[in-house]
Amino acid sequence: MSINIRQARPEDMLGMQACNLQNLPENYTMRMYSYHILTWPQLSFVAEDAKGRVVGYILAKMEEDDEQEPHTAFAPYGHVTSISVLRPYRRLGLAKTLMLQSQYAMATAYRAAFCSLHVRKSNRAALGLYRDTLGFEVHKVEAGYYADGEDALAMRLTLSPRDD
Ligand SMILES: CC(C)(COP(=O)(O)OP(=O)(O)OC[C@H]1O[C@@H](n2cnc3c(N)ncnc32)[C@H](O)[C@@H]1OP(=O)(O)O)[C@@H](O)C(=O)NCCC(=O)NCCS
Repeated sequence: MSINIRQARPEDMLGMQACNLQNLPENYTMRMYSYHILTWPQLSFVAEDAKGRVVGYILAKMEEDDEQEPHTAFAPYGHVTSISVLRPYRRLGLAKTLMLQSQYAMATAYRAAFCSLHVRKSNRAALGLYRDTLGFEVHKVEAGYYADGEDALAMRLTLSPRDD
C-alpha cells in the first residue's frame, strides 16, 4: 500500500472534507478548511493513496495563549482542529506521522511553544495516539464541550523551539 504524506493544498479541501464526514461528527464548512490552509499553509497535511485520494488529514492552526501572564502575552501555540484517517488505513502509523509533521512545522515555521487539541473522553484510539504515542498531557477537562454533551480533554504537548 503506497501512501504519500504531504502538505495540504487548496485542491485537497473536498477530499479532506469527505474523509472528515466519514470519520467524525465534528464537521466543518469549506470556508473553515480554506481558512486553515490559506492562513497557515505549513500546518495541514494529507495522506494520499496512489490515485491521489485523500485517506487521512490533519487540519491545524496557530493561536495565542490568553491564559499567560501579561508579560508573556505573546505566546503562540499550535492547535489541531481535526485529524482523521479512513478505516482501512488505520494502525499504519499515518496519524502519528501527520501529527509529527504538523508539530514540527508549528515549532519551526511559527515558534509554537506547545501544541494543543481537544479529544472526547471516550475516544480510546485518539487518546492512545496523543497520550501514549506522542506524549500529550491533559491540561484541563472541558465539561460538555461537544454538541452531544460529552466532556473534552484539552491536551497539550510542549514543543522544542527550533532555529532552523
Ligand atoms: C485516532 C486516529 C486518527 C488514529 O489514526 P491511525 O492512523 O490509525 O493511528 P496510528 O496508526 O498513527 O497510531 C499510532 C498509535 O496510536 C495508538 N492508537 C491508534 N489507534 C488505536 C486504537 N484503535 N486503540 C488504541 N490505541 C490506538 C497506538 O498507540 C498506535 O501505535 P501502534 O499502532 O504502534 O500501537 C483514527 O483512529 C481515526 O481517524 N479515528 C476517527 C477520527 C478521530 O477520532 N479523530 C481524532 C479526533 S480528536
